[in-house]
Amino acid sequence: MKPFDMHSPVLAIESSCDETAAAILRPPGVILSSLVASQAEEHARFGGVVPEVASRNHLMAVDPLVRRALQLGGVAPYNLGAVAATSGPGLAPALLVGASYAKGFALALGIPYLALNHLEGHLLSPFMGEEEIPHHIALLVSGGHTQLTEVWKAGSYDVLGRTLDDAAGEAFDKVAKLLGLPYPGGVEIDRLASQGDPSRYNFPRALMERGNLDFSFSGLKTSVRYFLEKNPALTQSSQGLADLCASVRHAIVGVLLEKTARAVEVSGLSQVAVSGGVAANQALRAGLQELCSVKGWRLYLPTPELTTDNAAMMAFAAMHHLRMGKSSPLGLEISPQWRVGGVAETV
Ligand code: KG4
Ligand code: ZN
Repeated sequence: MKPFDMHSPVLAIESSCDETAAAILRPPGVILSSLVASQAEEHARFGGVVPEVASRNHLMAVDPLVRRALQLGGVAPYNLGAVAATSGPGLAPALLVGASYAKGFALALGIPYLALNHLEGHLLSPFMGEEEIPHHIALLVSGGHTQLTEVWKAGSYDVLGRTLDDAAGEAFDKVAKLLGLPYPGGVEIDRLASQGDPSRYNFPRALMERGNLDFSFSGLKTSVRYFLEKNPALTQSSQGLADLCASVRHAIVGVLLEKTARAVEVSGLSQVAVSGGVAANQALRAGLQELCSVKGWRLYLPTPELTTDNAAMMAFAAMHHLRMGKSSPLGLEISPQWRVGGVAETV
């Protein structure tokens, strides 16, 4: 196997959930192509992601997507320096497709294969193109995860707090489902909330006691359910629905802002980053911008395309590991439960 050549483009494949994605990145951070084939519509009728349906769709999508990404990026397969794929956390049947495809590709070309942590892809996404990742506090908010992490540098992470039940995106999606809004509901609640009054209704904020950096959002969803049972007509009026969405968004974003502020203060750092699908939320972005300007902290936000699942962020994470001389054995299994901060099996 050829060692990784620092100037060669990297192919990354992402298939941890309901998006098949492929991207080519030229180090340190030029995205030559980044394609996402979303299956959201297919899962929408089930109100959530069905692993077997996701797996079958990944299988059909991955090869044409990779070929198209290579073509758009103007890169011939034999010019690639490495092939990387998300290995966890995620849905096992979905991860298997991208990881197996990537291993086959790497084996055929005789270049390094690298197993990637999906959460690390999100964590590094606000720094796309940067050669060094600064020591900072990261708020990662996606459909599957919500956590506060101290990022020392690429590859070195300490989780300070995480959700004990639902993730922030999941909370948005579950409330949206109760309101009869389409999946994934976070975007829809965000859109409707912009017309509403966030102080109209008061929803609970859990684990707010001093020093606590964990999250819990399942009580909020239950509280919205009871509220709707008591006020069944409310969602019939567009203003009522907008006020409810704004109030729910205010409660979720309020907790995220408060805990992020605490984590930064405790760490003594002054650099903050946010990533994951919920990082696209307008109120969260505005709230973080305000918080950081008041406190004099530097805020790193990913571009909107890099917030939801994509392979460009995975290629960027791969590039950092490859530069450190890492690669993964082809016999490495996927890690559906892989947590960031855990040990990656690399050689
Ligand atoms: O990062 P992501 O694409 O997938 C995971 O790795 O989980 O995040 C998807 C999540 C979904 O729960 C979706 O509802 C949420 O991100 N989301 C939003 C917004 N855009 C996407 N939540 C709130 N406001 C948004 N604008
Ligand atoms: Zn994700």
